[in-house]
Amino acid sequence: MNPVDYLRISLIDRCNFRCTYCMPEEAEFDYIQSQQLLSNDELVALLGEVFMPLGFSKFRLTGGEPLLRKNLTELVESIANLPGLQDLSMTTNGYLLPTMAQPLYDAGLRRINISLDSLDAGIFKQITGRDRWQQVWQGILAAYAVGFDPLKLNVVVIPGVNDREVLDLAALSIDRAWHIRFIEFMPIGNSPLFDSVGWIDSATLREQISDRYGLFESNCKGNGPADVFQIPNAKGTLGFISQMSECFCDRCNRIRLSADGWLRPCLLNESGQIDLKSLLRESEPDFTQIRAQVRQLLIDKEAINFKERDRGVGDQSTYRRTMSQIGG
Ligand code: GTP
Ligand code: 5AD
Ligand code: SF4
Repeated sequence: MNPVDYLRISLIDRCNFRCTYCMPEEAEFDYIQSQQLLSNDELVALLGEVFMPLGFSKFRLTGGEPLLRKNLTELVESIANLPGLQDLSMTTNGYLLPTMAQPLYDAGLRRINISLDSLDAGIFKQITGRDRWQQVWQGILAAYAVGFDPLKLNVVVIPGVNDREVLDLAALSIDRAWHIRFIEFMPIGNSPLFDSVGWIDSATLREQISDRYGLFESNCKGNGPADVFQIPNAKGTLGFISQMSECFCDRCNRIRLSADGWLRPCLLNESGQIDLKSLLRESEPDFTQIRAQVRQLLIDKEAINFKERDRGVGDQSTYRRTMSQIGG
């Protein structure tokens, strides 16, 4: 097992996109009310008093869409200033980056992953429910110009929708140090779509890309679930996140905090989750006690990764628990 030292923090469950694999237009959501969101002070206290003393040094801000969170740059600045922090990153749809890339960088964010499922504005709209390809592209360019490094672009490959673009998307890694990651579509969020179109395994994509450009295994391995490859002489890399065709639970290094303060041991499994918000909002929060509970969750996580994963994937009712709610 890897040491678990990486916390993914969902800042908000709302999103300004409606990706068909995540928050399809027709689905209805019970959003978290704003007073139920962990506040900036609560989040910073949790990281400083609970997670960092337990050895966590890597944090990722996710959503929903994290750029919709109020007072985001203040939060980034407070987290970036925590002593001992090694890595602070964000996963975003990029729409608000044209104006927010610079303030976020100035606040101390250095690493950013942006969803880009298509290079075709029409297909992009079909996937995200929004006619916003141009703004997202500008957001990517803004993040690149500001100096976010590494800059990763996430592509969920949907059969019959964007799978014909894999070669063009892969080619984005050639001239710029952009890291393109192809993610196997998971039956989480929109299982009717998954049931009707299925998914494409990473090995098939690697073969296509290798036939066209050549491909070798990169030695710039990240600490995430991606298997990293490179086109010869390319400046960036290609990552393959293969949660359907391969079980990477044995190298899982992360747990997740939902926007309303539930600490979950796994993307696909809620067993043993802890209601940190309630513990924090006691009249005198006992951080020693909270740390002890989190330590126990980490011990229990080792057992559930393997046993419960399949149940988690297979047992989805239609739109139960989307990535926007769990924190992709
Ligand atoms: P890096 O630290 O930059 O490598 O980030 P990452 O790949 O962990 O982060 P990102 O938010 O970009 O994640 C990309 C996608 O990987 C997610 O949207 C999920 O589809 C998938 N993913 C990330 N973590 C997990 C996990 O724990 N389990 C599973 N099944 N999929 C995951
Ligand atoms: N399958 C795979 N990845 C998904 N994401 C959201 N829903 C799914 C799904 N059903 C990913 C998006 C984005 C992140 C927020 O979550 O690609 O990178
Ligand atoms: Fe929003 Fe990201 Fe979900 Fe798309 S994948 S709807 S951008 S949270």
